[in-house]
Amino acid sequence: MKKLEGQIAIVTGGARGIGAGICKAFCDEGAAVFLWDVLDSGQETAELLSNDGGNVFFQRVDVTDSKAVSDAVSEIISTHKKIDILINNAGIIRDRSFLKMTPDEWNQVMNVNVNSLYVTTKSVLPYMKEAGYGRIISASSVNAFQGAFGQTNYAASKAAIVGFTRALSQEVGKYNITVNAVAPGFVKSEMTDSMPEEVIKANIASIPVGRIGTPEDMGHVYLFLASKEAGFVSGITLHANGGSLTV
Ligand SMILES: NC(=O)c1ccc[n+]([C@@H]2O[C@H](COP(=O)([O-])OP(=O)(O)OC[C@H]3O[C@@H](n4cnc5c(N)ncnc54)[C@H](O)[C@@H]3O)[C@@H](O)[C@H]2O)c1
Repeated sequence: MKKLEGQIAIVTGGARGIGAGICKAFCDEGAAVFLWDVLDSGQETAELLSNDGGNVFFQRVDVTDSKAVSDAVSEIISTHKKIDILINNAGIIRDRSFLKMTPDEWNQVMNVNVNSLYVTTKSVLPYMKEAGYGRIISASSVNAFQGAFGQTNYAASKAAIVGFTRALSQEVGKYNITVNAVAPGFVKSEMTDSMPEEVIKANIASIPVGRIGTPEDMGHVYLFLASKEAGFVSGITLHANGGSLTV
């Protein structure tokens, strides 16, 4: 039997990169996956996964838009009656040294990376509580722990996710809901492809396992935390960085 057979999952930011890797891993293990993204290319990603046998549906949802989120959740509940897994993966960078950082650059990152967790989790959690089961996993980052030049906004947002995870896990454990975070290291995606060549090279050179991470690597990590077997793991941040950092 597949690990997520019969389960319903939402993956935010699933159109590309790590999110698409998570969607693929969940599809392969039999989940029905609702791929949320602001990019229309989410439709193509969903089609590719469907052609590969996946049970996946694209919903154009901006995770900062509470109405869009609650409408999408209602649509899922009206047909499937439950949501087992919520993956808060959508995230953005707006890098600039702090002295030059604009209010917009600060606020956009906080909005998408942190405030969205209030919106998505608030909308899904009551259904998990009612069902007495749930897995909530959010994307932190290695840079929440080690910082990075030009990323005060991003590092602060990803550290906030660690605190959110620890606190919520204490509130909802009694409903058989686990809450965890993943802190990826340097992983190949459009986000990291957009960085300067020398930054990419330096980052890869510092990874003990000697290579960049892949969305497939991350899919496996999220799959473990999303599985029923991980029911005794809650409140943690799982570091997946090729050995780059120990905290
Ligand atoms: N790639 C890395 O090395 C790395 C490292 C640490 C953490 N992370 C985190 O992992 C997550 C995925 O990163 P990635 O590298 O795949 O990035 P990416 O930019 O390739 O993909 C992010 C996805 O999120 C979507 N998104 C952005 N804003 C959204 C919104 N308001 N509503 C819905 N969707 C939205 C984007 O359209 C995109 O499809 C992010 O939270 C990122 O911060 C990535």
